Amino acid sequence: MAEPTRTAKLTIDDKVIDLPIYSGTIGPDVLDIRKLYAQSDMFTYDPGFTSTAACDSAITYIDGDKGELLHRGYPIDQLAEKSHYLEVCYLLLYGELPTLVQMKDFEGRITRHTMVHEQMHNFFRGFRRDAHPMATMVGVVGALSAFYHDSTDINDPWQREVAAIRLIAKLPTIAAMAYKYSIGQPFVYPKNSLDYAANFLHMCFAVPCEDYVVNPILAKAMDRIMTLHADHEQNASTSTVRLAGSSGANPFACIAAGIACLWGPAHGGANQACLEMLREIGTVDRIPEYIRKAKDKDDPFRLMGFGHRVYKNFDPRAKVMKESADEVLGLLGVENNPTLQVAKELERIALEDDYFVSKKLYPNVDFYSGIILDAMGFPTSMFTPIFALSRTVGWISQWKEMIGDPTQKIGRPRQLYTGSAFRNYVDTHHR
Ligand code: SDX
Repeated sequence: MAEPTRTAKLTIDDKVIDLPIYSGTIGPDVLDIRKLYAQSDMFTYDPGFTSTAACDSAITYIDGDKGELLHRGYPIDQLAEKSHYLEVCYLLLYGELPTLVQMKDFEGRITRHTMVHEQMHNFFRGFRRDAHPMATMVGVVGALSAFYHDSTDINDPWQREVAAIRLIAKLPTIAAMAYKYSIGQPFVYPKNSLDYAANFLHMCFAVPCEDYVVNPILAKAMDRIMTLHADHEQNASTSTVRLAGSSGANPFACIAAGIACLWGPAHGGANQACLEMLREIGTVDRIPEYIRKAKDKDDPFRLMGFGHRVYKNFDPRAKVMKESADEVLGLLGVENNPTLQVAKELERIALEDDYFVSKKLYPNVDFYSGIILDAMGFPTSMFTPIFALSRTVGWISQWKEMIGDPTQKIGRPRQLYTGSAFRNYVDTHHR
């Protein structure tokens, strides 16, 4: 990290403490508090990390006020329009857009790692058919470290690279297997002749009894959804992956931890919760009732797919996703899809309502994604697994950046203790 740009002075009682201030390329400066506890015997207090930078990173930048998202400096709307998912994977992993030769080599490496060890099929047999695919994915991805011992040594750059390629390549296969298992259909092997997104659709929807031709419209839409979910700075699941990685855990275990965190409805589970909410609303005339519930302090209901910790303007991914929903449903001839109509009217009403305007609550990446995935034929239970397979490149890129930093330390936050002070044990008959 560069030298401090200036110094802040913190006065605590009669003591003045100098805190260095560092500046990044763009975005907020940071106040370096690493020596604060040693100099003040105090911790900072920020339970939701609303004002805390946990690391420095060169991968993704978000400006919540402008509604801007950059991957290695390139804006997400340009990448969604002009790039494709595997090219964005290369960009996130290596920092630059690939040449044609580099892209062909990378695509070839990913393609040759899409199969999973045949014995991993047995893992699925141990799950109930009605298990949520996210539960299956957490288990099977964590189990990758039981099969790929030659890419678990985090101190070997070559093994780090192979683990990253394996995870990006195998997550779609595992997600498709989780889906097939949940509907009682046989697993479909990856096909090297298909591109990444088309391969995933083929593994999900093909059956052995007949040829399955991937609809190019859906493959393009799938690729765009993957691109829009690829990485997003230090969100909860990425921070989970970083914290797990900081202990030296192998990359497969770290990604399994990220999948577990993503599952929550406040995070990646919101896409499933959002479509189920839109279906529950059902018709436009019931929207006011749900707006009232969302505004009611005593009602735990929230508009799923709305609001964001960082974006206090439109989530740029939601804008692209909304355009894609219009395009895909139009091309499929289902533009009058009632769920899409409810979503658009709900967005219109909410964005005119002072509660949402004053709290700067806008649709996020999860608001429209489910409508497209539903139109493609996916059950809602597959929405978060698709988010997870798409985000794997972001997680593993951030993990590689951290592990490759020789100064990285194990993450170990402290606390404000509010429990009992010292007290002696009391025998049972004296309680
Ligand atoms: C993702 O971090 C990332 O980058 C995540 C992500 C990524 O790509 O990795 O972008 C993916 O997780 C997107 C978010 C998906 N989650 C949802 O759509 C669930 C619904 N949204 C919320 O639960 C909420 O908005 C969060 C969790 C997303 C953000 O919560 P914060 O930042 O902790 O904000 P908050 O809960 O403190 O809310 C601020 C106020 C509160 O009201 P007050 O207590 O101040 O009166 O806004 C209200 C909240 O009650 N509020 C909502 C609301 N979201 C916030 N009210 C109604 N509906 C909502 N959706």
